[in-house]
Amino acid sequence: MLIECRNLTHAYLDEAQARRVTALSNLSLCIAAGEFVCVLGPSGCGKTTLLHLLAGFLLPTGGEVRCNGRPVRGPGPERAVVFQEPTLYPWLTAQGNIEFGLRAQGLSAPMAETRAQEYLALVGLDEFAHSRPYELSGGMKQRVALARALALQPSLLLMDEPFSALDTQTREELQEELLRIWAQQQTTIVFVTHNVEEAVYLGQRILVLTPRPARLRADVALNFQKSSDRYEGRLCSAKKAILAELMSEDGALGRTYSLATCHADDVGEGGLCLCHTEEVVPVHVPVSEESV
Ligand SMILES: Nc1ncnc2c1ncn2[C@@H]1O[C@H](COP(=O)(O)OP(=O)(O)O)[C@@H](O)[C@H]1O
Ligand SMILES: [Mg+2]
Repeated sequence: MLIECRNLTHAYLDEAQARRVTALSNLSLCIAAGEFVCVLGPSGCGKTTLLHLLAGFLLPTGGEVRCNGRPVRGPGPERAVVFQEPTLYPWLTAQGNIEFGLRAQGLSAPMAETRAQEYLALVGLDEFAHSRPYELSGGMKQRVALARALALQPSLLLMDEPFSALDTQTREELQEELLRIWAQQQTTIVFVTHNVEEAVYLGQRILVLTPRPARLRADVALNFQKSSDRYEGRLCSAKKAILAELMSEDGALGRTYSLATCHADDVGEGGLCLCHTEEVVPVHVPVSEESV
């Protein structure tokens, strides 16, 4: 198992108001190598907190994260992150931005140069290797950020709403590009989004979180052959099912199921049905803002 989270909990100390804000509560999950997992939840629920715990930017206040069997105690090159904003160094070229991280990993200058060029080509930017960020569009900058993360050849690529600031057309292009790169490179991807359509289009598996503090509402495997047509019936059905999960107020946690193509008798709209594969009994943990 590449990533294991056991009873992961994180509470921030809000000093201004002298209280603890619990962002994440008792989350347990596993992610296998090669999976494309989308983490879906409403704004402010704790998605970035989860990603930062996986990246090692934050240490949990309860539970633990393991990567390849070892506890995560800080950031590491095997876990690369793409943020919502491209966060490029403005004084470096596209290629220079990629080389910077590689040199920090100890690669020689010629090796860093070759690797940077290879990954710029992968994201379709080989002609812009010597452009500086101010000469690139928002989508191009985000491609550089993606190339920079992939060039580290991480076991895990963590992406935090990376396309949400882009216009629809560019976002859809980059989503397609990301699926192509994932199929080609077989990188494990954890992709955070609040957008159901994006999660259904990209993910093989969707982790649906509750409003803050984030708990695992449902773990849904999309076990059907996806079409590249994002308006195809099964994707629309999957979107409906996931949306229902997201908006559910019944308090059930940890449902694990798969969305799969069914036999004619069971077929709902779009030919998908819900198959409950396992019911996980939720562990009750008292949460929230305790005064300190
Ligand atoms: N550094 C911090 N200090 C205090 N509270 C924080 C901090 N970072 C995030 N939070 C709070 O934690 C909750 C979850 O935040 P976040 O993980 O950023 O949510 P999301 O990414 O799902 O929008 C929010 O209520 C937010 O206000
Ligand atoms: Mg966030």
